Amino acid sequence: MKNKSFQAEFVKSCKKLVDCPKPGLPEYAFIGRSNVGKSSLINMLLERRNLARISNTPGKTQLLNFFLVNDAWFLVDLPGYGYAKRSKKIRDSWDEMISSYLIGRQNLMNTFVLVDSRIKPQQLDLVFMENLALNQIPFTIVFTKTDKLKPTEFERNLEIYKSELLKSWEELPPMLITSSKKCTGRENIIEVIEKYNQLFHQK
Ligand code: GTP
Ligand code: MG
Repeated sequence: MKNKSFQAEFVKSCKKLVDCPKPGLPEYAFIGRSNVGKSSLINMLLERRNLARISNTPGKTQLLNFFLVNDAWFLVDLPGYGYAKRSKKIRDSWDEMISSYLIGRQNLMNTFVLVDSRIKPQQLDLVFMENLALNQIPFTIVFTKTDKLKPTEFERNLEIYKSELLKSWEELPPMLITSSKKCTGRENIIEVIEKYNQLFHQK
């Protein structure tokens, strides 16, 4: 498991479910607010500097971007929610492009919902997770940018997050702790992916 390397390539960008690659391989989506670190996390996992485009400006990723890994599974870098370029209005996290992909994609095995570890629970993220649950879409919460916090600060934020979730959830969803900068949590994400890859092939 340690220092596992992958062969990865960008396949295509799509706007609609019908344009997505053939659903013959297990797939994993990365979603979360604009600027939370989705593209950075994909690069960290694949050990590539700029395979998924990163930017300081929120809203960099606008389409569904497909990456093929080891010719065996797909990672999908989704556009961030909560940011609209031409409007001050907060963009709905369950918008048409994202929700139709998440609901309709039959080979989607797990969705990684990224949350900035520095900020308190946001309604937009909580509602997004509720929508996933309502549609029976499995997901894992991924706390990002933990390098920017002291361990004690992170622990405090994690407890706040858990108690917020427990207000509406009976059980906590799986959670992972990451930093793309420090490469923290890479193995844990790979472990989740490998578990689901096995499930996919047992079906
Ligand atoms: P959109 O595509 O706009 O939705 O953003 P995104 O979620 O793909 O975020 P992206 O990976 O482009 O990163 C946004 C900014 O956060 C960049 O300046 C990254 O360098 C920074 N960043 C991402 N992950 C980390 C991390 O783990 N630690 C630190 N310190 N910075 C990070
Ligand atoms: Mg991005």
